[in-house]
Amino acid sequence: MSACPVTDVSTVEPLPVLGRDVLVPLVTGGEVTYAALDYAASAPALQRVWDDVAAYAPYYGSVHRGAGYLSQLSTDLFEKSRADVAGFLGCRPDDQVLFTRSTTDSLNLLAAVLPPRTRVFVFETEHHAALLPWERRPDVEVTYLDAPRTPGQAVDTLERALAARQPYGPALVCVTGASNVTGELWPVRELAAAAHAHGARIVLDAAQLAPHHPVDIAELDVDWAAFSGHKLYAPFGAGVLAGRADWLQEAGPYLAGGGASRAVSRRADGGVDVEWHRTAARHEAGSPNVIGAYALAAACTALTEAGFDRLVERERRLVAAVRDGLARVPGVRVLSLFGDDAPRVGVISFVVEGWNSSHFAAALSAEYGIGVRDGLFCAHPLVRTLLGGEPDAPGECGAPDEGQSLNAIRVSFGAGTPDEHIERFTGAVQELVEKGARWRYRTENGRCVPDPSAA
Ligand SMILES: Cc1ncc(COP(=O)(O)O)c(C=O)c1O
Repeated sequence: MSACPVTDVSTVEPLPVLGRDVLVPLVTGGEVTYAALDYAASAPALQRVWDDVAAYAPYYGSVHRGAGYLSQLSTDLFEKSRADVAGFLGCRPDDQVLFTRSTTDSLNLLAAVLPPRTRVFVFETEHHAALLPWERRPDVEVTYLDAPRTPGQAVDTLERALAARQPYGPALVCVTGASNVTGELWPVRELAAAAHAHGARIVLDAAQLAPHHPVDIAELDVDWAAFSGHKLYAPFGAGVLAGRADWLQEAGPYLAGGGASRAVSRRADGGVDVEWHRTAARHEAGSPNVIGAYALAAACTALTEAGFDRLVERERRLVAAVRDGLARVPGVRVLSLFGDDAPRVGVISFVVEGWNSSHFAAALSAEYGIGVRDGLFCAHPLVRTLLGGEPDAPGECGAPDEGQSLNAIRVSFGAGTPDEHIERFTGAVQELVEKGARWRYRTENGRCVPDPSAA
């Protein structure tokens, strides 16, 4: 019997992305290629996506409304994009794939179509896009679940909350696949099983999972999944909500207008009668973003054709390199809910003892050409839990940080990240901690920036 082939991840190349040769100035003099290490906010466009969009652009035409050749072609492309995304997500035959603007839009759409008096269960650790849309429905009761410290505890917490649910009506659980703060993977399959065992449905916030890891709706047995194109190498303004059709079909349209309506007629009493589509079009009123949808589908195809599993393996190696590099620097604390051994994607947040995180991030940018993010990452309750309580009053960004960290630094990367960016980043963290910043910084309009008077 032949041995199972093992991918040598050191030979898997990063996928070509736009901006890889862009030079940025250093405050200390000279230029360096930009190291984009903020993929969790927005990833650079895949070159392949850009090329596909450029090739289609001359053929661009209106969708669902023109008799002309290019309108027909664009309509076909839009619907093929939908089918490609359904394939990428492993959708069930009856699932619908809706094109939205983003994950935020997708989850707000789902909130809008919940049956009356749905009970929603959401961990406090979620990104605000998954935490907040439900409260906008006055008839919906939201239960916020405490941050679990292990994946098993997440399942137990949910089980208990669902079991206590009274009265027994429609219920929805909303959970992230991968945290935008810690990168840790959540036990989605187990949470889905718990939800279903208690008659609830579950929506997966795949904004951080889908760019880093294959997502299979049917295999995970989640009812819906949502993600954003701009985090999946397709920054053309499209997102996705995919999953069960019934709640989508039973609710009124998310937006009222053309495209969502099949027929409109005047009534004898002077009003109008509307027959709404029952397909995805019901919630896609207005002219669709065909370029966004096509770009998003092109990114899905590109990841699949590149061998997503090989990219996952390579990213694991990069995650290990970042974590090893940070572990070697005294005073660096990596934020984690589930502990060191938890599987995670390329999203890592940390604080550095004695440093204001905004100052640290500004120095990484100005002195090393590295783009990371500092802040609370639109997950305030989670970051505050991880930082260990409420922060002190904000200090001046260049001054040593004596007290509780206000916020954290996040480094994030993916399929387009070359090894050099990771090496530069870990080297820069070590050098900054050992030798300090080489420049002075100050707060300007709420941002930490190099002080020009330090030159
Ligand atoms: C886990 C998670 N969910 C939802 C969102 C919202 O995504 P978007 O801003 O594309 O709507 C983000 C964005 O950072 C995220 O990280």
